[in-house]
Order: sequence, then structure tokens, then C-alpha cells
Amino acid sequence: MLKSLISIDDLSEAQINQLLKKAQQFELNHHSDQLKGKVVASLFFEPSTRTRLSFESAISYLGGSVIGFASADTSSQSKGESLEDTIRAISQYADAIVIRHGEAGSASRAQAVSGVPIVNAGDGSNEHPTQTLLDLYSIQSTQGGLEGLNIALAGDLKYGRTVHSLVKALTRYRINFTLIADDYLQLPQDLVKLAQDSGCQVQFRSSIGQLDKQDILYMTRVQKERFDDPAKYFEVAGRLKLSLEDLVDTKETFRVLHPLPRVDEIDLAVDKHPAAYYFEQVRNGLYVRQALLYTILNG
Ligand code: CP
Repeated sequence: MLKSLISIDDLSEAQINQLLKKAQQFELNHHSDQLKGKVVASLFFEPSTRTRLSFESAISYLGGSVIGFASADTSSQSKGESLEDTIRAISQYADAIVIRHGEAGSASRAQAVSGVPIVNAGDGSNEHPTQTLLDLYSIQSTQGGLEGLNIALAGDLKYGRTVHSLVKALTRYRINFTLIADDYLQLPQDLVKLAQDSGCQVQFRSSIGQLDKQDILYMTRVQKERFDDPAKYFEVAGRLKLSLEDLVDTKETFRVLHPLPRVDEIDLAVDKHPAAYYFEQVRNGLYVRQALLYTILNG
């Protein structure tokens, strides 16, 4: 039984499939009272648009209530309270806690002291497992399945937590990965090894290049907030930009995904191309987060 979700590795393939199936039901009808009487705390110590509001929307559509904050400045962390004490306190008021925090490992620390389930909504550059659920849902919906696909990941593969969780999940599905990044922003070696040891093909590129064999291109923003040295950010940012010309030879079923927010890595002209799927992808976040909360609180 699913209690907390800290890493995508907490979910078996069967549990992922169950969550994606449940999300399909919520796509057909996302209004219900299945969380009636439940209170979920939404603790965002780091900025968010999609993750926070889709969780809060998911809870509201299911008849539950939300408490929480959208910025660390409005919590007692600004008076020096530790993360652990904050979690101990809030777990007295809520049936589950959704947390985003700038430090890798923070969700795991929260789980260690919480009396209620914890959902990791992004911990530093480590993981973002609920984004992965909506990414998997989006890939499955557009490709008809997850097995054996050609998937290119581009941008900031070093600091991008959405990429880290997604690669971990996709290694279960015999994916052919193409990793498109500046050398400095390439995927951490432990994740490359995990993919290779799992039987996935892994190719490396430093520019977008040919996309004719790809089923999915997963673009990402260079994560400015993770750089200790701003000069290094300005050195590597802006090198990859997807434009309409890159999409001329793509398959009819090919789709461009992006966890968003984007900065300048996708030209605005791409938004009108039939392969652009990133705003539909945003909506899928509502359904998978409904499925997750339903499963944790009622499943
Ligand atoms: N994809 C994502 O995590 O977006 P937000 O930062 O807006 O939540």
C-alpha cells in the first residue's frame, strides 16, 4: 500500500500502471467527493506554478480541503524553525503533506518525522516524482504505451530533477535514450549507468540535430537557481533552442514535452506545431495528482 511518495523508485511498475489507470478515470470525470473530509497541507518552500496549483486544484475537485503556504517567507521557517519541527507541527493538522523544498533530501527528512504521508513535489535538484507520473501519462497517452520508445532528453540534465526521476522510471521500459546537452549539463553518471545496466541504449549529443527517429523530445530549462557560480550559468545557458526547422522530418506521432516553466529553449513558433504537447501535459498533472492523492488517502 502506498503511504508516501519521496522517489519515483518508491513505486513498482504495477503501482505506476494502477496510478495511470486511475488518472484516466479522472480525465473522464475529475469532479467527485472522494476526498471529502480530508485535509491536505501544501507546503511550498520554493516557487511553483503548476505543481502547487494542480495539487490544490486536484484536492478541491475531489471535495477535500487545502491548508498551507506558497512561500517560505510566510512560514515560521523565516523565524528559524527547522524543517523537521514544521513537519511535526503540520502533521497534527492534515491527513497528508505535499512538500516542495530547495534542498535535495528534504522530502525524505520530512517523511522521517511526519505522522502522515509525505508527497515530494520537488526536492532541490534531486527528484520530482509526481512530475514523472504526469510525464509517463503524457507519453503513454500520445504514444499508446511506454515500451521500447526513442526518447530524447534535452537541456539541463545535470540539475533537472524532472529528468532525474523520469530517467529512473523509464529505465523499466527498454527505452532508447538520446541525451542532448552541453558537456557541463549532461546527465549524472550514476543515472547513465542505471539506464545502461537496465538494458537501455544511451546516445549523447551536444546539439538538437536530427529528430526523425524520436518518439518524444523532452526539453528542459537550464536551472539557474541551482548554479553556485552565476558566470557558469551565463556560459552554458541559451545554447539549445528548439525551432520549427528542427521538426521538419519528425514522425506524425512525435511529441515535444517540457515540464515548464520554459525560458527560451523552445521558440514560441513551435507552440502551434502539432507536435507541441507541453500545455496538454500541464493538464495531465491534475489527473495524476488526483489519482495519487486518492490512492494515498483512500486506496
Ligand atoms: N513542472 C513544474 O514543477 O512546474 P512548477 O515549478 O511551476 O511547479
